[in-house]
Amino acid sequence: MNAQTATRRHYLMCRPTYFTVAYAINPWMHPDDEAVDTERALAQWEALRRTYLDLGHDVSLIEPAPGLPDMVFAANGAVVVDGLAFGSRFRHIERLPEAVRYLEWFKAHGVEHGVRDAYLPLGIAEGEGDFLTTSTRILAGTGFRTEPGAHRELEEYVDREVVSLTLVDPRLYHLDTALAVLDEETIAYYPAAFAPESQRLLATLYPDAIHASEEDAMVLGLNAVSDGRNVVLPVQAAGLARQLEARGFEAVPVDVSEFRKSGGGPKCCTLEIRVGGGPERGSQP
Ligand code: ARG
Repeated sequence: MNAQTATRRHYLMCRPTYFTVAYAINPWMHPDDEAVDTERALAQWEALRRTYLDLGHDVSLIEPAPGLPDMVFAANGAVVVDGLAFGSRFRHIERLPEAVRYLEWFKAHGVEHGVRDAYLPLGIAEGEGDFLTTSTRILAGTGFRTEPGAHRELEEYVDREVVSLTLVDPRLYHLDTALAVLDEETIAYYPAAFAPESQRLLATLYPDAIHASEEDAMVLGLNAVSDGRNVVLPVQAAGLARQLEARGFEAVPVDVSEFRKSGGGPKCCTLEIRVGGGPERGSQP
């Protein structure tokens, strides 16, 4: 078993100062019966940020805004590939105003971090929630949130192959709740979250993928953040952690249970800022 290699990452996060479950736009959210413990959410988020810093990564912060309780889910604010920030257009009206805040952040702070341009899509697109980047292609989810038209827009904008995958389980409504990119070639996913043709496509593209159990998928275990070696994932996903270790990854469990009340996990709270060209392009002449 070969040990995996980590590379230093740059993440954008948003402190959950105003986080709560105020509306229901996915099956996890029950605004009337399960109150969020904001203090606890803040502590869990702080521990997640600390975990990234301890792993040697950079973390930038965007200001949270009152009235936007889901803004903590930075992954939905954009997808940044090769120094190009492809912004978001949310499906639900409750989250619409977040998009401009993330886009403005990239316009104001992007350049200092190597982001050359920012783009507002025409179609519904929910950032890294539905767009997961590997060295060779971008995997794109549709079915609940992001529209196929936005997959094509992203393909145009970043000039990388975008592979569309259809999600079918409402509890796993964003691609990053059903699939995790672990290194440039390795992914983990829960097959039953995908339509049959997407399952076939994934089996062809990733014959060596880790298949997560239903039990691990249903604690949002696949909502994981990998640096190529260390995989930050919900502590409740014990089976998946063992599968990762067996493949040479280091499982780094975190408890973000307060965010699960909103249908979120560690990945949802984390937007990766990718400024280098993809490894497959190398240095252009
Ligand atoms: N309550 C949020 C929503 O339904 C959770 C977003 C989770 N984000 C993610 N990247 N999966 O939109």
